[in-house]
Amino acid sequence: ARTVDRGPDGALRVGGVDVRDLAAEHGTPAYVLDEVDLRARARAHAEAFDRAFVDLCGGADVYYAGKAFLSVAVARWVAEEGLRLDTCTGGELAVGLRAGLDPALLGLHGNNKSDAEIARALEAGVGRIIVDSPEEPARIAALARARGVVAPVLVRVNVGVEAHTHEFIATAHEDQKFGVALSDGVAAAVVADVLARPELELRGLHSHIGSQIFDPAGFEVAVRRLVRLHADTLRTHGVALPEMDLGGGFGIAYASTDRPMPVEQVAGRLARTVAEECAAAGVDVPRISVEPGRSVVGPTTFTLYEVGTVKPVVLDGGGERTYVSVDGGMSDNVRTALYDADYSCTLASRASDAPPVLARVVGKHCESGDIVVRDEFLPGDVRRGDLLAVPGTGAYCRSLASQYNHVPRPPVVAVRDGVSRVLLRRETEEDLLALDVG
Ligand code: LLP
Repeated sequence: ARTVDRGPDGALRVGGVDVRDLAAEHGTPAYVLDEVDLRARARAHAEAFDRAFVDLCGGADVYYAGKAFLSVAVARWVAEEGLRLDTCTGGELAVGLRAGLDPALLGLHGNNKSDAEIARALEAGVGRIIVDSPEEPARIAALARARGVVAPVLVRVNVGVEAHTHEFIATAHEDQKFGVALSDGVAAAVVADVLARPELELRGLHSHIGSQIFDPAGFEVAVRRLVRLHADTLRTHGVALPEMDLGGGFGIAYASTDRPMPVEQVAGRLARTVAEECAAAGVDVPRISVEPGRSVVGPTTFTLYEVGTVKPVVLDGGGERTYVSVDGGMSDNVRTALYDADYSCTLASRASDAPPVLARVVGKHCESGDIVVRDEFLPGDVRRGDLLAVPGTGAYCRSLASQYNHVPRPPVVAVRDGVSRVLLRRETEEDLLALDVG
């Protein structure tokens, strides 16, 4: 559903809008989000999971993980296309509430929720709070009691599976901060604790094993372990938990060599796994939910930059690399510096037949690790004033953006049917100075 193409003179267009017009109207850098694509991806996730699970448990619920990118309009759009919203801070929750979403369709995560965050979630009437540590049930229960409500909760289980892109590790014990450990009976004890508290309603178990996952085998191990605990809960307490959440983490293509599974296949694989494991454990399939962020929003957005300094540099082993500096950098996309992430880029404002040169797209920050695109072939005549587009920046770019070096954060501009519209405005120097009250 992407609406990106090239106009008659070779300039990139998205949603029917020429990138040169976008740059003129909104400035650069800017995140440009294709609304049609976002809606289509959101709907595709909702439909694929619903279809895959309809015969097993009447369908599945998809919570969009707002940490990937969240604004009021985006929260509304994904909700209109059938998604719920997963938040993990009071701030994300505030966006969902301001967007007017039905609170029953919101979830609240967090490994260190404050009392204020829990209270706000309870007062709003969110559909689920995900318990992340053994001390949390007592805290949530006390806050619920004070408000005369019963809190619907899931227990996030650390199933000892860690998945990254093409591989996963399944260990007995995992050394990380999220969830309650399956080993040593910690998770079972937390389940018992929740069940014993009248202010809490245990809706089910949850697991999230990682992000940017291509190999579904990690999910299979996670589901097996989760279903076992689900079955133990039935045996020990006589309680058939109505839900189970398998988290997010479905990978997207950043490099041309990345081959992510289409969402229909991911959903189908998960459904088969859930069916098999539940049958093996002798339990009915609970209502399944998932929490994808990146796979919904990542591909919908590109960052538009303007080229400044172009500097050829001779490499140690011979050869040359052209450093192409753009007017943003690690403040608007920290993923290359932080995770060694692989991005690509294209000359967006014009066509060029110039022979390609090996380029590195770098930012304007005072740090040599300030790299946006490590290696890309760009036309050899790339020059000051050109516009570059870096695709796949919809997830974890604006949401991880900083104002390093007092560079204001770029706007998020949505395009659709030949019209552009600002979702998040550009920060200004005045915004930054206004914080400086000393
Ligand atoms: N659910 C939970 C509990 C999560 O912790 C996450 C992501 C998600 C869902 C959504 O995962 P997704 O479908 O977007 O992969 N900053 C990193 C990614 C951090 C992911 C954190 N948790 C990056 O830029 O690669």
